[in-house]
Amino acid sequence: MSDSYRVALLVGSLRRGSLNRMMANTAREVAPANLTLVDVAIGDLPLYNQDLDTDSPPAAWKRFRDEVRPCDAVLFVTPEYNRSVPGLLKNAIDVGSRPYGQSVWGGKPAAVMSVSPGALGAFGANQHIRQSFVFLDMPILQQPEAYIGNAAKMFDDQGRMTNDDTREFVRKFMAAFAQWIAKTARAR
Ligand code: FNR
Repeated sequence: MSDSYRVALLVGSLRRGSLNRMMANTAREVAPANLTLVDVAIGDLPLYNQDLDTDSPPAAWKRFRDEVRPCDAVLFVTPEYNRSVPGLLKNAIDVGSRPYGQSVWGGKPAAVMSVSPGALGAFGANQHIRQSFVFLDMPILQQPEAYIGNAAKMFDDQGRMTNDDTREFVRKFMAAFAQWIAKTARAR
């Protein structure tokens, strides 16, 4: 029997009707049974300001750090804003990385899915966020890569995935992530 893992799920869009949120729901639906995806809210995090990072930081920062810390892994599902990651998600990454020496990210295996209504599948955001993972020391799933384009055509009006090929791709992606988490956990 495989070990069970808790995966913090961070979605880089707050929009009602977000395609990224729908894709994250699909990922949860098709993930192997040994992964539990834990929604971690990022919309209430004040913009990172080191002056506030005292012994009593903003409550939302503390809540966020306390939710991510005990998780075994992190799944990022992100749109692309101007060929990069939305500020919302970058802010969450920054909040989790501090205070210096107390990052919640270090060593946690991660995976990224990028989702766009456009044809390029938010490739720019997907690549940009990987730059942060290097510095944060997060071993990132390399293959398969998940650049999901034309996503507006993939869901019904209840937000359910209607594209069987994409559902199957996401299923394989999540299975590969589960294997990556197990492999990384063994190496630690
Ligand atoms: C976008 N969008 C966008 N799309 C893309 O493929 N590349 C890009 O660089 C951008 N840039 C961009 C900037 C800003 C400020 C906004 C608001 C939007 C479009 C984006 O992919 C689209 O709005 C998605 O639907 C956003 O994801 P959610 O909210 O549906 O998850």
